[in-house]
Amino acid sequence: MSVLDDKERRIVGFLCNWCSYGGADTAGTARANQPTDLRIIRVPCSGRVNPLFILKALMNGADGVLVSGCHPRDCHYALGNFYARRRLETLKEFLPIIGINPERFHYTWVSASEGQRWQEVVTKFTDHIHKLGAAPKWSEVPALKDVKFDLVDAIRPLGCGTHPALAELKAEIKKALPDLHGVLGWRKGYDAIHAEPFLMQTEAEVDELIWGPFNVQNLANFLPKHAGKKIGVVVKGCDSKNVVELLVEKLIKREDVTIFGIGCNGTVDYKRILAKLPEDAVIESVVGGGSGVKVTASGKEYDMPMAEIAQDKCRLCVKPNAVISDVFLGKPTIEPECEDGRLPALRFLDTLTLEERMGFWKGQMEHCIRCYACRSACPQCVCRDFCVSDSRDPEWLTQEDSVEQKMFFQLIHAQHLAGRCTGCAECERACPMDIPVFALKQQFGRMIKKIFGYSAGLDLESMPPLLGYELEEANIKERDL
Ligand code: FES
Repeated sequence: MSVLDDKERRIVGFLCNWCSYGGADTAGTARANQPTDLRIIRVPCSGRVNPLFILKALMNGADGVLVSGCHPRDCHYALGNFYARRRLETLKEFLPIIGINPERFHYTWVSASEGQRWQEVVTKFTDHIHKLGAAPKWSEVPALKDVKFDLVDAIRPLGCGTHPALAELKAEIKKALPDLHGVLGWRKGYDAIHAEPFLMQTEAEVDELIWGPFNVQNLANFLPKHAGKKIGVVVKGCDSKNVVELLVEKLIKREDVTIFGIGCNGTVDYKRILAKLPEDAVIESVVGGGSGVKVTASGKEYDMPMAEIAQDKCRLCVKPNAVISDVFLGKPTIEPECEDGRLPALRFLDTLTLEERMGFWKGQMEHCIRCYACRSACPQCVCRDFCVSDSRDPEWLTQEDSVEQKMFFQLIHAQHLAGRCTGCAECERACPMDIPVFALKQQFGRMIKKIFGYSAGLDLESMPPLLGYELEEANIKERDL
C-alpha cells in the first residue's frame, strides 16, 4: 500500500536497538498483524533520540512520530531512557505552541520479549493517527499577517535618570581594575538612544561608563569569549541570571569573574521612541528623569513616559536586582512578588487554535532574513561557531529561503535553550524584523517550570533539568497507549 493513496499515514518510529526494535522483531516473528504505516528508524538507545529528530519529522510532513525504548531501569546504557523521558516529555508539552497536535507524538517503552505489547502499541498509535487524519502542512495553512500586540502593563514602577550609585560603581571598578583583564560595561552609542557594550581597561574608559534605560544588551553574552581571563562585568538583574547559568554550566569559572551588581529600573525599546517621532526627525539629545525621558529631536521636545517606551520584558521583570554579585552598588530596586509573566506574543498564541498558531509562525517567518542576530545576542547560545544549524553533514538546515527552514532554525535555537534560557529575551530584542522569537523559548521555559519546577539562572547549585534525571519523575506519568 502506498502512502499516496491516503489510506496509509506517514508515521516515523524511533526504536531502540536493544528493546523496542527487538520487540517489533518478536511481533514480526510471531506473525502478529501490524499496521504498515510505521517507518522504523533503529537507534542505539532512546537516549540517542534528539528531540530535533521528532520536530524535523513533524515539520517535514510526518503525520505521527513514535519513540520507543527499553523500560526505565532496563536501558542497556543504564541511563539513556531516563534522560530521554525528560526531553521527550518537555517536547510533547512544547508542540502545541507551534501548532502541532501533541497527540501526533508519543513515546513509550517496549522490551524485546514484548511482541504482543509492541503489536498493541503500534496498532493503537496508528489507529489514533488515522483518526486525527493527515497533519496540516506548513505550505497549506493560511499565514496570519499583520499581527499587532497590545502593550502589557508594567508590574512595577519603571524609571530612568542618572543612577545615584553610578559614581560609586565607577570608583569600585577603578579599584578592581589592576587585577582584571577588563570590566564589561556600557557606554554611549552612536546616537542618544543607543548604548554599546565595551570593555573598560583604563580609568579613562571607566569614566565613559553609563547606566540608564539604554543599557539593553546582556553583557553576560561576552563572558565566554573571555573565559580563562580575570574579567569583571556590570550586571542588571537579567544579565546576572545568565552569569549564574554560565557558571552552572561551567562555561566560566566563578574565581575568574568579578560581578558588579546594581538595581535596574527598566530599559527602553528604542523603536517605541522612534515611533513617537516624525519620520525625518533627527534626535539631538535624550535626558532621563523620574518616570520618563525627554527627547529633543529636530529642535522639538517630546516627553515619553517609561510606561509607553519600556521593553516588554522589563514591564514583567521580577528580578531587577543582580541575583549574584561581588559588589552591589546603591539601593536594591523593589522586587514585585509575583511569577514571571507571559510576553504579549505568548499571551496572544494562547488564545489561538493549533492551526492558527501554525499560521502565526508562518506569517512571522515570512519576514525572517536569516541574519541569526537572535543567536548572536543569546548569552546561552555558546556553541555558535559549531552550531548544528550551520552543519552541512548532517544537514539540519538547507539554505532554501523557505518558511519551514527558517522556522526549523528557530526550533533548533529554542530546543537547545530548553531549561537553560533565563528569559532575558535578547533574541527578540535583537531581531531586526521584530519577530517574537522569544515566545518559543518562553513556552519551553514555562513547560520546564510546570514539569520540573525549575527556572534557569537563579541558583548556582541547581542543574538544568534536561541535563539530569530522577528514577521516579514526580510530574511525568509513564505514558501508555
Ligand atoms: Fe534501550 Fe537505552 S538501550 S533505551
